[in-house]
Amino acid sequence: MESNLNIKEILSFYLEAGIDETIGDTAGFVLPEKEEPKARPAITNMAQSTQNASKNAKEACLAAPDLESLRQKMEAFEGCALKLNAKSTVFGAGNPNARLMIIGEAPGADEDRQGLPFVGRSGHLLEKMLNAIGLKREEVYITNILPWRPPGNRTPTDAEVAVCLPFLKRQIDLIKPDILLLLGGSAANALLDNADSISRLRGHFLKYKTSEGAEIDALATFHPAYLLRNAAQKSKAWADFLRIAKNLNGN
Ligand code: URA
Repeated sequence: MESNLNIKEILSFYLEAGIDETIGDTAGFVLPEKEEPKARPAITNMAQSTQNASKNAKEACLAAPDLESLRQKMEAFEGCALKLNAKSTVFGAGNPNARLMIIGEAPGADEDRQGLPFVGRSGHLLEKMLNAIGLKREEVYITNILPWRPPGNRTPTDAEVAVCLPFLKRQIDLIKPDILLLLGGSAANALLDNADSISRLRGHFLKYKTSEGAEIDALATFHPAYLLRNAAQKSKAWADFLRIAKNLNGN
């Protein structure tokens, strides 16, 4: 295509554009080479933000000398995205001096609505089993690994567990129970630091190590929600509840 501009006009255009020296035989703008953004893999960023959130949770917990201030710290905590979709922060409930502390996975729809742990169908079954070994719900302390409901009741991710675990561990430190009853694989894996299946972990006492180095007897069993779907496993869970009763009675 022929240009209507003469050489003089072209040169004055370059000059106006700040181009006042030649670096080659052909005219044209040399654009700086496009620098590739320094891509940090998303996974690294996620691991980093999980670590930061978990560190913030630990710091919040250290500043909580009692259950009420721990509840407030948890309600103010912004490090877990589950909170964005949850109606409630479901803290533990029950006897703060309980000898038996029961730990489930995460609130479901009923718990999220009412702001209390184990108040839905799983909770009713749990209560029946407790009653059957002579315990009232108000005598024990009940909580979950996560205080916020995962969408659709999906299993918590490792990152969600890692971020919320300091709050649970602090609850254990403050309650100082004699026995922990861990309901389901998520609770058992998180607190026993053991990736075995619930079928392998249940049925015998193991030790949970507190942050202060003390050991607490811990028994894992099937989650009540699982028992509601698999009634054939109820007899094994019942045997586990009898183990709890025996241990509480000093046998
Ligand atoms: N399932 C849980 O693990 N926890 C609850 O609070 C309710 C159902």
